[in-house]
Amino acid sequence: MDDTGFNYPDRPNDLESFWMPFTTNRGFKRAPRLLSGARNMHYETPDGRKILDGTAGLWCCNAGHGRKKIAEAIKAQADRMDFAPTFQLGHPAAFEFANRLVDLTPGDLDHVFFTNSGSESADTALKIALGYHYVRGKGSKTRLIGRERGYHGTNFGGTSVGGIVKNRQFYGGLISGVDHIRHTHDIERNAFSRGQPAWGAHLADDLERLVQLHDASTIAAAIVEPVAGSTGVLVPPQGYLRRLREICDRHDILLIFDEVITGFGRLGASFAVERFGVEPDMVTTAKGLTNATVPMGAVFCRRKIYDAFLENTASGVELFHGYTYSGHPLAAVAGIATLDLYREEGLFERAAALSGYWEDALWSLRGDRHVVDLRNLGLMAGIELEPRPGAPTARAMETFHRCFDEGVLVRVTGDIIALSPPLIVEESHIDRIFDTIGKVLKTVD
Ligand SMILES: Cc1ncc(COP(=O)(O)O)c(C=O)c1O
Repeated sequence: MDDTGFNYPDRPNDLESFWMPFTTNRGFKRAPRLLSGARNMHYETPDGRKILDGTAGLWCCNAGHGRKKIAEAIKAQADRMDFAPTFQLGHPAAFEFANRLVDLTPGDLDHVFFTNSGSESADTALKIALGYHYVRGKGSKTRLIGRERGYHGTNFGGTSVGGIVKNRQFYGGLISGVDHIRHTHDIERNAFSRGQPAWGAHLADDLERLVQLHDASTIAAAIVEPVAGSTGVLVPPQGYLRRLREICDRHDILLIFDEVITGFGRLGASFAVERFGVEPDMVTTAKGLTNATVPMGAVFCRRKIYDAFLENTASGVELFHGYTYSGHPLAAVAGIATLDLYREEGLFERAAALSGYWEDALWSLRGDRHVVDLRNLGLMAGIELEPRPGAPTARAMETFHRCFDEGVLVRVTGDIIALSPPLIVEESHIDRIFDTIGKVLKTVD
């Protein structure tokens, strides 16, 4: 590798061919920001600058970067056996990982279906929900309910139940039979709530209204992020998730929590399920599952769901669904090593212990220029900025660029700065993240 970070110096800095996801390709390729190394709390740029990671990559490197234990497990597995199918065959690591995972989940969320991403986890959970009702003779329950401002990845199912206009508008009718409840974000009533806002539990009753509109006999499942991450850290109002659970129970609707971001310690507990004490029927995960080292997702299902397929299908394959790489050996061992690190270093407890310091540091920005709301839970935070008149999102994007130039990685979504550091973060890092944002906000118009 040369000092530009590229392995093939005969085409130095050629950025053309890679069509970058969710990126302003024209802007990036004019002024690229490349990362070429990562260790613990920092990225490194090709010119040797260290960037403090305030976002755990993309909400995913919860144990920090460059963790040797995970790298060694991947290498050992690659040497031993690179790949084995999990269709009518198996290999030990996938079973071991599933067993280790269900030790972390509360209640009877004790069966795991492996995928390769959060998007695949969302679509898998939606398909399992449809199949669950079908095998029980309730095949009319096909409607899927999502929520405005929800993000469940970019496959067709997740896009359909998702609630982000830009992600939907290019793609026609998406899948049919989907409806949405309102999001819970209300800045007039809930701005500057520390933790869960007091107002808004009643918004869960939107689900009851949809039952009255469509009839419960047509509704299969409702899916929500316990804390909506991608649309700017929207913390659920007190009592909201429990109310959703009650409505689902009343009408035999499966409740799915998308914990792709909130899983694996982000909220100071293994899952949001534990943090909020509300048990859904399925939990979708990815990201922190393998510390993002090898792509993998997992859907946790309550025993009644798994049992329904086994009890109500003729002998043979019970669920016609799966991926070539479901339970891939390299991902499975990476996941096991990741769980070891989480446990050995007490990272979920660490996130809980640091969340007060995190909150206070965030709150130091109250009253700063442009800041119209601050939100936080566990080691997540959202800083909502007033949009620049006539140029929505520009102010946040400029803040992102300026923070990067100052050596701190933040993430922006719309006019919101979203933060989610690796759980190994220290108080001095927290200070630096918020000091840098505060300093940059003073200079951004
Ligand atoms: C809640 C949620 N669900 C699903 C996804 C999609 O995950 P992936 O990008 O791995 O497909 C994301 C990604 O950010 C997410 O935040």
